[in-house]
Formats: sequence, C-alpha cells, structure tokens
Amino acid sequence: MAQRYADITGWGKYVPERVITNADLEKLIDTSDEWIIQRTGIRERHIVSEGQTTSQISVAAAREAMEMAGLRPRDLDLIIVATSSPDYLTPPVSAQIQDMLGAKDVGAFTLVAGCAGFVYGLVTAQQFILSGAYDTILVIGAEIISRFVDWTDRNTCVLFGDGAGAVIMQASDEPCGVLSFVLGADGSGAQHLIMPAGGTVMPTSQETLDRNLHTLRMNGREVFKFATRKLGKALEQAIRQAGLTTEDIDLFIPHQANARIIESAARHVGLPSERIFVNIDRYGNTSAASIPIALCEAAEAGRVHPGDTLAFVAFGAGLTWAAAVVKLGKHRKPHPKPGWRARLASWLRRG
Ligand code: COA
Repeated sequence: MAQRYADITGWGKYVPERVITNADLEKLIDTSDEWIIQRTGIRERHIVSEGQTTSQISVAAAREAMEMAGLRPRDLDLIIVATSSPDYLTPPVSAQIQDMLGAKDVGAFTLVAGCAGFVYGLVTAQQFILSGAYDTILVIGAEIISRFVDWTDRNTCVLFGDGAGAVIMQASDEPCGVLSFVLGADGSGAQHLIMPAGGTVMPTSQETLDRNLHTLRMNGREVFKFATRKLGKALEQAIRQAGLTTEDIDLFIPHQANARIIESAARHVGLPSERIFVNIDRYGNTSAASIPIALCEAAEAGRVHPGDTLAFVAFGAGLTWAAAVVKLGKHRKPHPKPGWRARLASWLRRG
C-alpha cells in the first residue's frame, strides 16, 4: 500500500452571539476589567443563550468544516467529539451530533481529555487514517462550560467562554498531516480542576445540590504552575520529534487559557510574537473548542496558508496536556460548495 497521510481539508467554527464583557462581570462579582486583562488577557467571552446545546453548536461548526472540504454527511467514516460539557452524561453527545448531521450509521464517539481534548482527537483521527481503516473523519471540539461555572465564583467564571470548532481529516498521498505529537496526563493533579459531584464518587443528592458541588472548582495557581511547567516542554518535544526547529513553525496556535501561559510556552522555544495566534481577548477559554476556533480565525485573518507548518499545544483538567506539529497539504484545492446532487438529495429529504 502506498504511504498514507492525513490532511486537514476543512475547518469551521460556531461562536454564540451573546457577548459578556469584563464590565458585565464587574456588575456580578468583585472583580475588575483591569485585573482580568492583566492576569489573563481576556476582555470578553461568548456565552450561549438559554436552550442552546453542545450538540447544536457542534453541528453548526461541523457543517462549515464539511462545506469547506466539499463533503456530504454520508462521506464521513467517523466522528470524534472532544468535550467536557456534553448534552447529557449518557447518551454520548457524539451520537446526537451524528444523527443531527444526517451521517447515517457513521461511528461516533466522545473523547474527554479536558481542554487538551481536541489535540487528542486530532491525533486519534490520524491513527485511523494512517492504518487504512478510514479515509474521512470529522473531529469536533465543543464546549458550553458556562453551564458548569459558578457565576458567583470569581476564580473561575471570568475565565471561560462557549463555542465549537471542527476539522475534517482526510487520507492523502501528499506528505502532510500530524508530523509529531506528545500526549500526557498526570491524574495526581485531578483536584486542581474538578467538578466534584454528579459522577460515581459523589452522585447527585440534595446535599450536593445544596453545597453547589455541580460546578467547576479550580486551584488557579496550581493549574498555572503545571501549565507553565509542561507546555513549553511539550511544544519543544513535538518540534524536535518532527525533526524541525522553531524556525520551521509558521504559526503557533495554542490553547487559549491565559495570555501569560501562552507567552511562557512560546518563550520556552523562542517563538516570536508574530508567529503566535492569540484570540483569548475575545473568547476567553473555550476549552476543547479553543484550538479549532483559533485555527479558523487564523485562516480567516490570512495567517494560515497551504503547506504551512502549525504547532498546537494544550493543557487542561485531568491534568492533561497535548502538543502536535501539523503540516497542511499544499495541493489541496479550494472545494466548491456541495453541488446539485447534494442540493437535490437534501431537497428530496425535506420533501
Ligand atoms: N478578580 C479579582 N481578583 C481576583 C479574581 C478576579 N476574577 N480571581 C482571583 N482574584 C484574586 C485572588 O483572590 C487573590 O487575592 P488574594 O491575594 O487576596 O488571595 C489575587 O487575586 C491573586 O490570585 P492568584 O490566584 O495568585 O492570581 P494569579 O495571578 O495566579 O491569576 C488565574 C489567577 C486564575 C488567572 C491564574 O492562576 C490562571 O490563569 N491559572 C490557570 C487557570 C486555567 O488556565 N484554567 C483552565 C485550565 S484549561
């Protein structure tokens, strides 16, 4: 069999319309715009409206990515959804998304690796493609963390935002795709970012509800120390494993959790600011959605080109971390919108 590669052929995003600024938060809790900007780099975040679900925002992002790749739902071989904020604990949200997309009988699973989930998903998708098992995979990172945040806790509520991002990975004969990756976990730090109740350790009870234990608890300082310790090293390792140097990275697209953490990782490998993509000021931390949303925005801003080498790095609850060096295919042609066949099929379905 000829050597196979896995190219990223489409991407898409969905961010809710509603924006909550730091000034809005000043009215809710004891905080200030200045504190939030200085310590995190966040100015505003998008928050879903009542009734919007993780499956809905995932489908919106997925449709955009599929349109860019020129795919119909039945062209998909697998759907991987990275999220820590699914519609339900059971069933998996990946199956809701499969159904809503109309990807009949396509395999779908949900992957939980905190904010590092999207990079874990991307690397997993690549393995299915390299093995020859599948040709076309949809990878989604989607979160509605706002539903799990205690809006009276200034340690957490200022940090997070909602959104979804998606990419399509497809088999290719052109050398490209994930050139190297690092996946890591250290569960000894679990208590630093945790939603205590609702699982098997502390099932839902009147007491867990009264004590508000179904919301995120975070030891920010410990998470910060962990992230600055791990991220730079993971990025350096991934670049080295790819046989590259920092000079070869066209754009660094990190998980957008804290501008200071991003700077520290970039400094560790000597990446100058013009090769770092940052949009945390407008979205806050959208967890597993942050890298695919940032990829879309970087592309919209003309900062991603065919043949570019990108570096992704993320960390999150677990504690987990992940880094990947990804080369985009050069020969990828912009795909036309789905043609008359797809339009006819959708018209027939409606009828
Ligand atoms: N507004 C104003 N003051 C705040 C505040 C807020 N929103 N949140 C915390 N503070 C206060 C603290 O109470 C503390 O006050 P004290 O000194 O009187 O106790 C002070 O600010 C400093 O807190 P500290 O935790 O040392 O600040 P920090 O510089 O570490 O920044 C974080 C706090 C949360 C921004 C930072 O630790 C961080 O980003 N950690 C990583 C979190 C993360 O990325 N989580 C998601 C993982 S995917």
